Amino acid sequence: MLGRYMQHSVLVTGGAGFIGSNFVRLCVLERGIPVINVDKLTYAGNLGNVRDLEQKSGYSFLQADINDGPAIRDILRKFQPSAIVHFAAESHVDRSILGPDEFIQTNIHGTFQLLEEAKAYWNELSGTAKAQFRFLHVSTDEVFGSLKPDDPAFSESTPYAPNSPYSASKAASDHLVRAYHHTYAFPTLTTNCSNNYGPYQFPEKLIPLMIANGLSGKKLPVYGDGLNVRDWLYVTDHCEAILQVLQKGRIGETYNIGGCAEMTNLDVVNTICRTLDELRPRPDGTSHASLINFVKDRPGHDRRYAMDIRKIRNELGWSPKESFATGIRKTVSWYLDNSEWVESVTSGAYRDWMRTQYAGR
Ligand code: NAD
Ligand code: TYD
Repeated sequence: MLGRYMQHSVLVTGGAGFIGSNFVRLCVLERGIPVINVDKLTYAGNLGNVRDLEQKSGYSFLQADINDGPAIRDILRKFQPSAIVHFAAESHVDRSILGPDEFIQTNIHGTFQLLEEAKAYWNELSGTAKAQFRFLHVSTDEVFGSLKPDDPAFSESTPYAPNSPYSASKAASDHLVRAYHHTYAFPTLTTNCSNNYGPYQFPEKLIPLMIANGLSGKKLPVYGDGLNVRDWLYVTDHCEAILQVLQKGRIGETYNIGGCAEMTNLDVVNTICRTLDELRPRPDGTSHASLINFVKDRPGHDRRYAMDIRKIRNELGWSPKESFATGIRKTVSWYLDNSEWVESVTSGAYRDWMRTQYAGR
C-alpha cells in the first residue's frame, strides 16, 4: 500500500533519463500513481525510454528546463502535484571533467530554481494538501568523496568531500535542499544512492558501454588498473526505495541507498564478458574478455564508494532484492533484446563523445 500517495500525482523531473524513466514506469504501470514527467530532453533524455507510457492514463509529458522558472510555475499550477521527485541532472563524471558548465547550470542553478518554484507553490497550498506535500531530491554517494580499502562505508553523517565537478555540483544541490528545509520548513527528503545499472541506461556509463562495445566487437576501455570499487544498485531496487522514502521517510532527513554489491570495475567487466560469452558467443569462439583494454585513468578518479544502508533498512524496511549476479543477467538480456533502442541512442552526437573521450587514451 502506498497510503496517501495512491490518489495523488507526482511531478518527476528528468523522467526521460535512465533512473527517472524506470521510476515513472514503476509509478504509472505498477502502482497506479499519476505522473507528470518534466524533462528538457538533453542528450541523455530520450522519449524512447518512456514510449510504452505515452498512451497510458495518468501519464503526461512536458518538455521543460528546470531553469525555466515561469514554465515550472505554470506546470505546478496546472497539474497540482502532491509531490516532486527531482532526478533531472547532468550525471556523467567524465563529461563534468571535460565541460563543467552545464553541471553548474542544471545541478546547482536548476535545483535552486526548482526549489524556488516548488516552495512558492507549496506556500499557496493549505490544509492536508500542504501537510502532505513532499519534495524528494535524488542525489549520489559521490558527494562523500573516496574511501580507502578498509574504511567503513558512507553513512548519512559522513562529511561531504566531493572530488569531481559532477559530485561538487550534486553536493551543492544537496546543501540547497537541506537549507530550504531548515530555513523555510519546506518538506524535503534527500536520497543518496550508489551506482545504478539496468534497462535504459545511456551507453556512456560503465556497464551499458561494456555491453554495447562487447556486442559490436569494440574494445572495452578500463580506466587505470581497473581496481576502483563501486557498489552496484539495480535500478528497480532504487526506484522502490525512493517510493518508500516518499511515502514513509521523515521530513528533512537523508537516506542512503545501496545495492550491497561492492565490486572492482575489472570484476564487473569480467562478469559482463562471461554473461555475453554465454548468451551471445563471439563467432570466432574467443571470450569477450579478450577485448578488455586498460586505458589512461580518469583524472581525480575516486578509488572506492560503499554505502551503509542500515538507516533505510531499519526505519523503512527497504533492502535490495537483486544481487549483482541476478541484476547483471537481467541487464545484459535487456540490452540483447533491445538492440534497436541502443541503435537509436547512439547517434552522431554519441559518436562524437566517444571520439572525444576515448581517442588517444
Ligand atoms: P540521466 O543522465 O540518465 O538522466 C538525466 C535526465 O535529466 C535526462 O532525461 C535529461 O534530459 C534530464 N535533464 C538534464 N538537464 C535538465 C534540465 N535542465 N531540465 C530538465 N531536465 C533535465 O541520469 P540518471 O542516471 O537517470 O540519474 C538521475 C539522477 O540520479 C541524477 O540526479 C543523478 O545525479 C542521480 N544519481 C544517478 C546515479 C547513477 O548511477 N546513474 C547514481 C547516483 C545518483
Ligand atoms: P561510471 O559508470 O562513469 O560511474 P561513476 O564514475 O559515477 O562511478 O563509472 C563507473 C566506474 O567505471 C568508474 O570507476 C570509472 C570506470 N569506467 C571505466 O573504467 N571505463 C569507462 O569507459 C567508464 C565510462 C567508466
